[in-house]
Amino acid sequence: MLKVKTILAFALVAVFLCAASAFAAPIVIKYSHVVAEDTPKGIQANKFRDLVAERLAGKVVVEVYPNSQLFGDGKELEALLLGDVHLLAPALSKFQKYTPLLQIYDLPFLFKDMAAIDRFQQGPNGRALLTSMKDKGIIGLEYLHNGMKQISANDPIRVPADAANKKFRIMTSDVLAAQFEAVDAMPLKKPFAEVFTLLQTKAIDGQENSWSNIYSQKYYEVQPYITETNHGILDYLVVSTTEFWESLPADIRPVIEECLKESIAVGNEAAAKKDLEDKQKIIDSKRSEIITLTEAERGQWVEAMKPVWKKFEDAVGKENLEAAIASNK
Ligand code: LMR
Repeated sequence: MLKVKTILAFALVAVFLCAASAFAAPIVIKYSHVVAEDTPKGIQANKFRDLVAERLAGKVVVEVYPNSQLFGDGKELEALLLGDVHLLAPALSKFQKYTPLLQIYDLPFLFKDMAAIDRFQQGPNGRALLTSMKDKGIIGLEYLHNGMKQISANDPIRVPADAANKKFRIMTSDVLAAQFEAVDAMPLKKPFAEVFTLLQTKAIDGQENSWSNIYSQKYYEVQPYITETNHGILDYLVVSTTEFWESLPADIRPVIEECLKESIAVGNEAAAKKDLEDKQKIIDSKRSEIITLTEAERGQWVEAMKPVWKKFEDAVGKENLEAAIASNK
């Protein structure tokens, strides 16, 4: 009788465990970002959510929070480390507090185009940088593109002297600060969510960003001039914490990684497309005049900003700088 009771008890526990695992709450991945949904990052994040919903239904749910609605760029990395969000894709310029190495991407006029950036990012130096924040508990999963940066302003900016004494909003990067200081301008580190109001109220004179952000944030409506400088890049690093990423079950993580990879390909395609389309929409709006530089004018910018490379050479790593220069060939 005792034996029967024991068998019954075991059977009940087994049934209970099966039922519990069938009804286990799905893993929730909160993905927060600061841009609009119809941008390369917004498109990538939504695609990732949809792919995970398709392939891991009932097991994993991705919640996307765009437009700084959950955390702005001043707070999002802290929130990640606290476990309040699990996935972010901050601009590469926003990691200074965690590693100096990623500042390589901020050096002005370093990469000649997106193809050069791709070569660097997919090469050994670019791949090694993905783990540059491991000691801080942050893991770089993959790069994501946006585009080259342009300068918008209240006044026409053609040569470096035109930028002198003007206030430009920058992301939280000392390299970007040094870049504007090199032309005697005044850089101000401000969160992305505040930029439109700062421009609209003329609290600042200008800012630097990709065509996609200038269009989706409507900067072109309050900035009468945009200079096509292509002087730097706005790219992202999709990050999580090592703790969270390694806690994902072994049968689930590869599927999530596959969804991430595919969504990044979609985001990168959108980046290339939007770079052209959003620029054209700004031209068509006639709200902002686009200034194209002559070779001699562009040369003046390159010359004026070149000392920034030397200043940050040790911080970003000489070998990284050499590899980045080589990626232009
Ligand atoms: C910015 O702060 O200007 C950008 O990094 C915003 C973004 O994420 O594209």
